[in-house]
Amino acid sequence: MLAISRSQLGLFFILLCPTNIIGLWWAVGSPLVMDPNSICRKTKRLAGRQAELCQTEPEIINEVAKGAKLGVRECQYQFRYRRWNCTSHNKYFGKILQQDIRETAFVYAITSAGVTYAVTQACSMGELLQCGCEATRSRAPPVPTTLGGGADGSAWEWGGCGDDVEFGYEKSKQFMDAKRKKGKSDIRTLIDLHNNEAGRLAVKNYMRTECKCHGLSGSCTLRTCWKKMPHFREVGDRLLEKFNGAFKVMGGNDGKTLIPVGQNIKPPDKQDLIYSADSPDFCLANRKTGSLGTRGRVCNSTAMDTSGCDLLCCGRGYREETVILEENCSCRFHWCCVVQCKKCTIRKDLNLCL
Ligand SMILES: *[C@@H]1O[C@H](CO)[C@@H](O)[C@H](O)[C@H]1NC(C)=O
Ligand SMILES: *[C@@H]1O[C@H](CO)[C@@H](O)[C@H](O)[C@H]1NC(C)=O
Ligand SMILES: *[C@@H]1O[C@H](CO)[C@@H](O)[C@H](O)[C@H]1NC(C)=O
Repeated sequence: MLAISRSQLGLFFILLCPTNIIGLWWAVGSPLVMDPNSICRKTKRLAGRQAELCQTEPEIINEVAKGAKLGVRECQYQFRYRRWNCTSHNKYFGKILQQDIRETAFVYAITSAGVTYAVTQACSMGELLQCGCEATRSRAPPVPTTLGGGADGSAWEWGGCGDDVEFGYEKSKQFMDAKRKKGKSDIRTLIDLHNNEAGRLAVKNYMRTECKCHGLSGSCTLRTCWKKMPHFREVGDRLLEKFNGAFKVMGGNDGKTLIPVGQNIKPPDKQDLIYSADSPDFCLANRKTGSLGTRGRVCNSTAMDTSGCDLLCCGRGYREETVILEENCSCRFHWCCVVQCKKCTIRKDLNLCL
């Protein structure tokens, strides 16, 4: 470890930061490290329970890492037009995880959701020995009215390959809710666990039913149906809504309960995101808060939402810049199967925050 690059430094920071398993998964899920063998060696340094799982179920670790990556990508998509854009620049990202703000809540939730999703999907694809398609024999027959869109009076049966979300849910719980080392307050632990659960439920509580018709020329005399997870984009959309309506909480006197802050506020339910500290405004770069600032960000001068220049540039204004991009155009399909395109250069005016 004589000469290490800046990005490696950031990675080490996260790996050695003793309380943060999410940081580990994000570092693992980021393009920085993708050597599966080193993952287990690194987890060993963290919580004992994780190291144990790493030894007994190393294949699951790969799926957990994939799930974290899915979470990172979705977070970056959902926050692409916001001041904090979920950048996984490690040094700054680690700071976000050390706080207890809305953004932290989102990161925990989307990561737990991603892990639930990736493990469940691996089961359905037959990639893991421990699990497979959902066992449906004991399941009650589907209620026709909830399925819709079929010939009336046709027969139903569970079949196909349903997603075994319970398995993914349990694995996500084992990996993400691992007991923390001492030093973090009980309240923060409670908040993190709550948000982890909210993320898992954003997958588990929104299973959809897919069906297929059987019978001569689609006559649909019999249909088989199975449960599928929601698309991960939907999970991200839902968690962003929860982010916008997140509840501020504080610890009760016993140090074991969470109380919503403010009067006449209904208590958050299991699917809500919670936080205990107000976010910084993320306008200027600040190492302490993990803010990269918004200077140089592309904004939209006509939008009134978070992507608008007023909000994104924090009132500092913006400058116009013309960039020249190369795009594919006049694409033609040649039998079979080549698409040939011309290259066109287009000029694009961008607004960049000052
Ligand atoms: C996110 O914000 C940072 C800092 O403002 C910027 O460097 C980066 O390009 C942004 N990422 C995306 C995907 O817009
Ligand atoms: C900018 O915002 C306007 C109004 O919301 C929207 O119609 C337009 O598509 C946005 N432009 C870009 C490049 O996102
Ligand atoms: C343009 O087409 C090439 C190959 O035909 C492809 O590799 C490239 O990703 C395309 N670029 C864009 C911007 O779609």
